[in-house]
Amino acid sequence: MKGIVFTEFLELVEDKFGLEMVDRIISSSDLKSNGIYTSIGTYSFSEMLQLLQHLSANTGISIDDLLLVYAEHFFSVIETSYPGLLATYKDPIEMLSSIENHIHIEVRKIYPDAELPIFIVENKTENSLTMIYKSSRAMHHFGLGLMNKTFQHFNSSAKIVLEKIKSDGTEVRFLITKN
Ligand code: HEM
Repeated sequence: MKGIVFTEFLELVEDKFGLEMVDRIISSSDLKSNGIYTSIGTYSFSEMLQLLQHLSANTGISIDDLLLVYAEHFFSVIETSYPGLLATYKDPIEMLSSIENHIHIEVRKIYPDAELPIFIVENKTENSLTMIYKSSRAMHHFGLGLMNKTFQHFNSSAKIVLEKIKSDGTEVRFLITKN
């Protein structure tokens, strides 16, 4: 997992819960990096999972809710860092249906070792989209947060239903309907 995912996460934790919480979740985790991340480095996903688990245990907020809020923050990082990529699109459904065959392809050119999910478009109309998410990281709520923000970015909104295909969340169906 890319360092930027860790650095932005710990900044958000500091912002919302304070530096003590950052120290607490780092020191209670077993981290090969020792909790020292650079935005250009690459670190094991198990480090992110431990940080999330300890933050969840200390705040009582579920990992899914933490990932949802984090994704909403991460979207503003994307807006600042990759404005050109977003400017390619004028419609949220067009953008979301292009993650797999355009957006994440571009991401992989920048970060060849990025760990990205697979999205399969099942059905697409002007106002709706059904997509399957597949990833061993089960970060579907990170996806959900980015989807919500994608609609906001285009001054739009949507109803997004998440249906688990595998109970461990490694395969999920998103049913998206524009409001
Ligand atoms: C992961 C970039 C749009 C879903 C990532 C990562 C980057 C990235 C850098 C981390 C990879 C790693 O740490 O190894 C971008 C950029 C986007 C974009 C630049 C737009 C210009 C989206 C959108 C979605 C999405 C709109 C909505 C569903 C995800 C998910 C992950 C991810 C769910 C977590 C990894 C996993 O589940 O396996 N993306 N992304 N991305 N992205 Fe995107």
